[in-house]
Amino acid sequence: MNIANSVALVTGANRGIGRTFVEELLKRGVAKIYVAARDTASLAELLKDGDRRLVPLPLDVTDPDQVAAAASVADDVTLLINNAGYAAFDGAISAPDMVDARLEMEVNYFGPLALTRAFAPVLAKSGGAVLNMLSMLSLISLPMAATYSASKAAGLSLTRSLRAELAGQGTQVIGVLAVQTETAMGARLPEPRLSPLEVVTDALDALEAGANEEVIAGAQTRGIHQAFIADPQKVQAIMSTRLPQRG
Ligand SMILES: NC(=O)c1ccc[n+]([C@@H]2O[C@H](COP(=O)([O-])OP(=O)(O)OC[C@H]3O[C@@H](n4cnc5c(N)ncnc54)[C@H](OP(=O)(O)O)[C@@H]3O)[C@@H](O)[C@H]2O)c1
Repeated sequence: MNIANSVALVTGANRGIGRTFVEELLKRGVAKIYVAARDTASLAELLKDGDRRLVPLPLDVTDPDQVAAAASVADDVTLLINNAGYAAFDGAISAPDMVDARLEMEVNYFGPLALTRAFAPVLAKSGGAVLNMLSMLSLISLPMAATYSASKAAGLSLTRSLRAELAGQGTQVIGVLAVQTETAMGARLPEPRLSPLEVVTDALDALEAGANEEVIAGAQTRGIHQAFIADPQKVQAIMSTRLPQRG
């Protein structure tokens, strides 16, 4: 799709990769962006220059009422970016309970599912596109982020089904896989890390080139992905040494 003159909605737009999506979409000539955040006060920095293309939207992706309200207000969206994410960084067994595991599924899986269901009729007007921010952990399990990895694997599976189901209305669906990236979330993972701009640039270039598949974003991700394709068990065995640490 062409980003110029498109109307985007970015979840988790206030910081990290989401904020970089907003900045890069503006540079590429987007007509409007609904900048969605749980707390719209956290968008102050982004809105301080007064760019009239930015429309703040309160949106916790786990809240069905807010999702429905967003789809009713933002009824001109042509590009839905499901970026919001949550990672607890704990083991499946070592975690004290399953609260974070459920929250990861709510934010990383049910959130994009609910948003895409709500916006499918809006997108149908233009064809439009959905971009789901996934992870290399959609393919490989990291024991120190066990339940996050599972939620991102669910997100990848969902993305593939959404692509098939939305093809009939001409909606392009891409899933973006990336390794550790320099944000608050990525700071919990080892260096070196990708820059958010590298991830976002590769994702938006692929979107504009008409990709309708998974996008491997960033040179470091491509290196690990190639190793994974060549020998998945070997890469999983290396990742399986990274166990949760308590304390
Ligand atoms: N950083 C990495 O290493 C990395 C690598 C691959 C993929 N990813 C994925 O990239 C996406 C962005 O991650 P990031 O690195 O930018 O993380 P981040 O800096 O921790 O930012 C997470 C964003 O998600 C928002 N969010 C969390 N729960 C939400 C909810 N229930 N409703 C709405 N928004 C919610 C946060 O809002 P608040 O400010 O309100 O908390 C924040 O805007 C995520 O999907 C993540 O899984 C990250």
